[in-house]
This record gives sequence, C-alpha cells and structure tokens, in this order.
Amino acid sequence: TTDVRTLSRNFKEFDGKEVTVSGWVRNMRDSKTFGFLVLADGTFFNPVQVVFNQDKIDNFDEVCHLNVGAAVYVTGIVTLTPEAKQPFEIQATKVEIEGKSTPDYPIQPKRHTMEYLRTQTHLRPRTNTFQAVFRVRSLCAYAIHKFFQERDFVYVHTPLITGSDCEGAGEMFQVTTMDLNNIPKTEDGKVDFSQDFFGHATNLTVSGQLNGETYAQAFKNIYTFGPTFRAENSNTTRHAAEFWMIEPEISFADLEDDMILAEDMIKFVINYVLEHAPEEMEFFNNFIDKGLLDRLHHVASSDFGRITYTDAVAELEKHNDEFDYKVSWGCDLQTEHERYLTEKIFGKPVFVTDYPKEIKAFYMKLNEDGKTVAAMDCLVPGIGEIIGGSQREDDYDVLVQRMKECGLKEEDYQFYLDLRKYGSSRHAGFGLGFERCVMYLTGMGNIRDVIPFPRTVGNCDL
Ligand code: 4AD
Ligand code: MG
Repeated sequence: TTDVRTLSRNFKEFDGKEVTVSGWVRNMRDSKTFGFLVLADGTFFNPVQVVFNQDKIDNFDEVCHLNVGAAVYVTGIVTLTPEAKQPFEIQATKVEIEGKSTPDYPIQPKRHTMEYLRTQTHLRPRTNTFQAVFRVRSLCAYAIHKFFQERDFVYVHTPLITGSDCEGAGEMFQVTTMDLNNIPKTEDGKVDFSQDFFGHATNLTVSGQLNGETYAQAFKNIYTFGPTFRAENSNTTRHAAEFWMIEPEISFADLEDDMILAEDMIKFVINYVLEHAPEEMEFFNNFIDKGLLDRLHHVASSDFGRITYTDAVAELEKHNDEFDYKVSWGCDLQTEHERYLTEKIFGKPVFVTDYPKEIKAFYMKLNEDGKTVAAMDCLVPGIGEIIGGSQREDDYDVLVQRMKECGLKEEDYQFYLDLRKYGSSRHAGFGLGFERCVMYLTGMGNIRDVIPFPRTVGNCDL
C-alpha cells in the first residue's frame, strides 16, 4: 500500500497511476450510483477523498453501508482535481473491507467538544485535532533529543522509583508493596518501612535532577527526558499528576549559560516543528489559536525578556488592583502574575531570575546578598511557567546550612553532598515541562488534551 503522506506530498507524480491505500473512514456520502469516502490513514494530516462508482466496483451496496470508523483498503486511479478543495482524489476500482464499524461509532463527522472527546480517550486520536496534537508531540520530543544530541549531551535515564524528594514540596506518590490493611508498625507506632520491598520508604520521582547532577559531574553535559510524578492537589489546566520533564544539567557553567541553553532549546524546537508539521501548525493557527504562527515565528527570531524577581514584583505591585492575589516581595508568583508579566508587560517569553531563597528549593545557589538564589523561571504567554531552573549550590558548607533550614537530613543526601566534596564544579540546569511546551507550540488550552492518556486529580482512566 501507499501511505497517504507519500501520496499527498507527491500527488503530481501519481497522476493517472493506480495505488492502494489503507485507512479508516472519516466521512461517507453516497447517492444512487456513486459515493464519496473520506479516508484517513494517520500518516498525513489531510485525509484523501475516494470516489466510488456503481459500475467500477463490485460491492457498491456494501460500501454504501459502511459506517464511519470502518477500516478499508482502497485501490484506484489517482486523478488530479485542480478545481476542487483537495488537489487530487482516488477513483476506486476496488474497496476491500478490513473491519466494519457500527452506526454508534462515538466520533461522528461533526464538531465535538474537547470535554466530550476526553471521554473517548481511545478514539480521539482519530480526530483531526488529536492527529495534529500527537504528531506535534512526537516531533517535539524528537526535536528535543536532536537539540541535545547535536551538542553531545549524554542522555541519562534517571530512576522513577526513588527515596528522595528533589523539590522538597512533599508532593509524592508513595511506592509500597505493603498490605495497606495490615501495615507493619514499629514499637513507637510508626509505619515500619524496613519491612517494605526496598527496606525504606520510597516514592515516584518528582524530578530526575539530583541523579542528573551526579552524571553532569562526570560527563559535563547531560540531559534527562522521562516521566515525573506529582501528587499536587491542583485541578488546573496546567497540572498533571504524571508528566514528562526534560532536565539538562551543565557543568562549569552558571545561570547565564543555563538561560542561553534554555532559550536556544525553545527556539530550536519551535523551528523544528514549524518545518516538519506545516499542515498541523496551519490547523492550530486556523482553528485552535489564531495568531499562533506569527507569534511563534516572532519568538524564534527575537530575544527573550529578562527581569529579576525584585524588579518583577515592583512592576506587578503597580497593578495589584487587577489581581486576586496581591503581590509583595517574598511571595511566590501565581499564574495570574506570571501571565501578566509575560503577556502584558513583555509580550514575549521572559526569564524571571533571583528569587527569594524561602520560596525556592534547597539546592539553588545562594546569591551574595544572602537573600536570593540564582534561580530562573521561563514564563511564556498563555501558560506562565514552562521552565524552572537554577545554578546549583556548589559549596559544601552553604549547602549543608540550606538543608538544615529546609529541614532535610544530611544522611538522606550523602551522595549529593559528596559531589560538593570531590571536585565540586559550578553547574546549572533546568526542567522543561514537556506538556506545557506542547501546549505552547499548539495553542491547546488544557494539559489533558496534549497527553495521550492523562492522569489528573480524580482521573486515572484507561
Ligand atoms: O519548577 P519545577 O518544579 O523544577 C524542577 O523540578 C527542577 N528539579 C528542574 C531542574 O532544575 N532540573 O518543574 C519544572 C517544570 C515546570 O516549569 C513546569 O513546566 C513542569 O516542570 N511542571 C509540571 N507540568 C505539568 N504538571 C505538573 N504538575 C507540573 N509541575 C511542574
Ligand atoms: Mg517551578
């Protein structure tokens, strides 16, 4: 068979030739002596139009009774149709039915809401919106690997089951093989994890960073790209319980190097997707987010904004009457503030740097003022934070002090402290939320619609 992609990209060469394509029926129309079949095979965003005539195929009635969703093979002659919307069609000489569908197929050729399609998680990839989303998601993943591989970064597979809490926010899913109806207890009534599978408490990772840092102190430049898990009880359009994160870590490098890397990566991914998914991006621009293409082209060719947390707060305080949650120095920026900064004040992606140490993780390098850390968040219009990163504390004593302040036990982080003992080098890194990146590239408004099988508060179906 011929892929619809190959056919569509080279249709002129196929003019007058016989082809066989396979695919699923998207739409059906028939009259007494002929009919049309819209056939999608998933290899190309635009489906092909098939014309079938009573006197050219021997199972005309059966084909007329096909339902949307059916799987078929079509053999026929490619005919150019310069007058029509689609540049060519296939005039069928044979239609073989591979798998029938029924009239109650849940995705009929009409506009369905995203909410409805979420109830059809297994069938929604057959719609044009989700064909576009998941091809772009795939290309985006490939582009990220390509970006780092071309720079000779080593791809490190960090563990998913871990004993540590990288972000110190306590938002972890616990992993256990204990019988929850019969939990072993110690003499003082606490859960006895020594009897558990690993001999101590474990959880699903919230970030591969701490493990990643150890490899960066051996390979200089590394990245991770894998699933991470957060039991955040936030039911928003930007939070998932299971999401993928890309975490590069660079040695002999500081916060400035970190931001340059992040900006280069985002621009690379934008350009890659624009080049490799033109039909899909055109679709998003027309039907999901008007102006998306202009915006992405602009972002790819101009500098990101930069502002310190302190200056950002000073700017935002001027607009406090517009916020539900008022801003003052020391507070964590909420999504409404992040979006105000990137959408109204900068009108483009912006790095906010040097946050107060109290609202950031223990591993971030303390600045000379003793109050702020060498952190950066990258905020983008429409979403807010897509990247969180920092230079890492490389001084043993300062790190121990920070861990004490954060209530962490030294013995739980011995390997991490060792890095500061044996040839500690300046280093920095960041985490890009993969789904938020896909949302940014596609204009999709809900994280549930860029994940094949989303896991969010109260939802772990399929
Ligand atoms: O800012 P975060 O928590 O940073 C870290 O985890 C660091 N260890 C990264 C590093 O420096 N290596 O998370 C990084 C990014 C966020 O900017 C956001 O894009 C995404 O991960 N993210 C989520 N995406 C979807 N659902 C959630 N619940 C997310 N939590 C964070
Ligand atoms: Mg963050």
